[in-house]
Amino acid sequence: MSTTIDKVLYDLCLKAQANAYAPYSNFKVGACLVTNNNNAYLGSNIENKAYGSTICAERSALSNAYSNGVKKEDIKYFGLLSDSDKISFPCGECLQVMNELLSNDTNIYLFDKNGKFECVKINDIFPYHFGKEND
Ligand code: THU
Repeated sequence: MSTTIDKVLYDLCLKAQANAYAPYSNFKVGACLVTNNNNAYLGSNIENKAYGSTICAERSALSNAYSNGVKKEDIKYFGLLSDSDKISFPCGECLQVMNELLSNDTNIYLFDKNGKFECVKINDIFPYHFGKEND
């Protein structure tokens, strides 16, 4: 990924993060899925007073993209921005969903709030999983 694209993806994640609804944790998260034809689908964490009804940014972005007809093979990058000086990894529930809806070779950029990032693939961060291959 070029520096320019890093910046574009980071800015899109910042935009998603600005739309987070996180009055309970105050931890705002932004995610962005970019397709091969350069459409961007944002997702943010949307909390609820019934805390368990909260949806994380990653699953928001994936639901947004899939609801608009995006398929696994259309996905170029996935970005995630935490509200912290350290990058943060997706929660277990998001890992499970990302494992099913992203391909094994999709680049996942994990940004800290300052824009420092690590680039990983789903298998790097979720090597042991329950998925379709277990049918
Ligand atoms: N959160 C995410 O959006 N993604 C994750 O992978 C971890 C946690 C959100 C959920 C909740 O709104 C807040 O961060 C604090 O846990």
